[in-house]
Amino acid sequence: MESNTVISIQNLVKRFPVGGDFFTALKNVDLKLHKGEFTGLIGPSGSGKTTLLNIIGGLDSASEGTVRVLDQSLDNTTHNERAKLRRKYMGFIFQSYNLLPVYTVFENIELPLILNKIDQANRIKRVNQAIEWVGLTNKRNSKPNMLSGGECQRTAIARALVHEPVLVMADEPTANLDAENSHNIMRILTKLNNELDTSFVFATHDEKIMGYLKRIIRLEDGNIINDKKIKKEDV
Ligand SMILES: Nc1ncnc2c1ncn2[C@@H]1O[C@H](COP(=O)(O)OP(=O)(O)OP(=O)(O)O)[C@@H](O)[C@H]1O
Ligand SMILES: [Mg+2]
Repeated sequence: MESNTVISIQNLVKRFPVGGDFFTALKNVDLKLHKGEFTGLIGPSGSGKTTLLNIIGGLDSASEGTVRVLDQSLDNTTHNERAKLRRKYMGFIFQSYNLLPVYTVFENIELPLILNKIDQANRIKRVNQAIEWVGLTNKRNSKPNMLSGGECQRTAIARALVHEPVLVMADEPTANLDAENSHNIMRILTKLNNELDTSFVFATHDEKIMGYLKRIIRLEDGNIINDKKIKKEDV
């Protein structure tokens, strides 16, 4: 794999068992993503966006084909190897936030740093920075059940970014945010993309996200039907 290739997928097929039969959610996907790309997967509900993100993140496996992520083949890796790859190099923003209810905003965001064995002084510095990015300084000690949907989403976004991953996967990251917060978040993500060369893959329906993307891949019925790079002057 070339050094700036972050994701390389060939002939990916994903079948889910349904009843006694199979449903084919991804039919024959070829895809290459490079370092620093800011890519959106778009397409109708059920077209396979989340399925593709889950496979790239090693949360689900391919039925056929080869998947290489960050210079590692996911085809023959163990569960633990994939978990390690995720923990160190990837960030996830899920449709459902997956926050831990007994932890505060600060503690939820701190978790990836504890898992990566970052010392406490550094953890405090980096969590505070991430909390500031998403504008939650005044909610740092609140637990998720005391937060609005948008605040939960912003906490989840800070948690995905706090360890400065190489690759961030985001499934509808602005689904529960108003226009102002959506644009704020997209500006933060764009800044990280520019400054740290973090690669982003979004699954989204949100028109507000589209204007920030540098590449748009359209899925339909489990196939990539369009893939276009957006030139800066077009935006
Ligand atoms: N575990 C599963 N078992 C069976 N079918 C599944 C499973 N997960 C997904 N599917 C099916 O695969 C197809 C693609 O689902 P996916 O969640 O990837 O769509 P999506 O593009 O993310 O849609 P949305 O925009 O609604 O989030 C859908 O038809 C869905 O019903
Ligand atoms: Mg989805």
